Amino acid sequence: MDFKLSDEQEMIREAARDFAQGEIAPVAEHYDQSGEFPLPIIRKMGEMGFMGIETPEEYGGAGLDAIAYVLAMEEIAKADVATSTIMSVNNSLYSHGILTFGTDEQKQAWVTPIASGREIGAYALTEPMSGSDAGTMSTRAERSADGTHYVINGRKSWITSGPVAHRLVLFAKTDPDAQPQHRGISAFLIDARLPGFSTGKTEPKLGIRASATCEIMFDDYKCPAENLLGREGEGFKIAMTVLDAGRIGIAAQALGVAEAAYEASLRYAREREAFGQPIGAFQMIQQKIADMKSRIEASRLLIYQAALAKMEVKSSGNRYTTEAAIAKLFASETAMFVTHQAVQIHGGMGYSKELPIERYFRDAKITEIYEGTSEIQRMVIARNELGIR
Ligand code: CAA
Repeated sequence: MDFKLSDEQEMIREAARDFAQGEIAPVAEHYDQSGEFPLPIIRKMGEMGFMGIETPEEYGGAGLDAIAYVLAMEEIAKADVATSTIMSVNNSLYSHGILTFGTDEQKQAWVTPIASGREIGAYALTEPMSGSDAGTMSTRAERSADGTHYVINGRKSWITSGPVAHRLVLFAKTDPDAQPQHRGISAFLIDARLPGFSTGKTEPKLGIRASATCEIMFDDYKCPAENLLGREGEGFKIAMTVLDAGRIGIAAQALGVAEAAYEASLRYAREREAFGQPIGAFQMIQQKIADMKSRIEASRLLIYQAALAKMEVKSSGNRYTTEAAIAKLFASETAMFVTHQAVQIHGGMGYSKELPIERYFRDAKITEIYEGTSEIQRMVIARNELGIR
């Protein structure tokens, strides 16, 4: 493996860092407190190419690679995890599936507005009674007798960017009797402005408060037949393929927030004095610093490994499921570990809203939950290692 970054990768990292520190970090606390969706920031990020980093230029994106994506994600998350969540949904959960399984017309019509930041995308898989066991969904898409459209009914929950999304990738059952049941699932491109689509209340959350999340409802929603993504029955495979890509982004997001907490802790350990010396002189603080740094660097390597595997797949056709799951598992648990230690190093100040440390701690937690919990990542890794399903 060669980790020397190309000029383009360096450039996107610099651009993301400048934007994140100059324009996101100063307002992150405001958006966290108010829970407002940071629309002006998202629009600017779209103009700069951050909403379609791996999207080819012909579909409005920056046309860069998976390493460029994780570098940018890390920098944005370092300033604000909520903003990076919105970025991650547009780039991975929404666009990746369309770019991988869509027709040229679908890519043109459905990816371009999202990659440019003019519109917001979302991904609708989870339901109130179907979370980790995604194959058990009950949302139904019934093909009309004349075959021109599907009628969709059902409810999806925990939809990131749901309250503001213009377009969504939706998974629904076209064949509820299929066995195994995941083979009865299909994917659809949904325009949220059409009748039959509605949103529930925005969920109040522990962290990533500026990233809006809600339930969405389909009530006799008419989806034109040309908005079927891939083939009927291929939906579960599309959902899982997308999650493989998404999980690398979440790992990079976890790395970003861990670094923010770590760097703040380093500064504090040098400046804060107790018992007549900087607290960094105490071995118990040094042990924390060493463990935080080691896990951060290990996460970075796992993320690069997964991103390189993803790039490799374009030519080999193999999956990078295990690499993505390992990166997400390790980096998200690192984010939790590091932000926890950061609160501890800062003591009372870590618990206070005067500093962003408590926000890092709250924001880090979601990376162990969404796009597959740590338990699901362990299950995926172990099953693939053991060769069982
Ligand atoms: N890529 C492509 N296909 C895959 C795949 C992958 N990574 N993993 C599995 N598949 C295919 C299998 O080949 C199989 O296909 P066939 O039967 O046609 O051969 C099919 O999918 C079923 O595979 P499994 O039997 O392994 O499926 P399972 O029912 O046991 O579930 C699971 C597997 C890994 C637990 C899966 O359900 C899973 O990942 N669950 C977690 C769901 C999740 O991450 N939800 C998060 C929601 S999104 C989110 O958080 C959004 C947000 O707001 C940010």
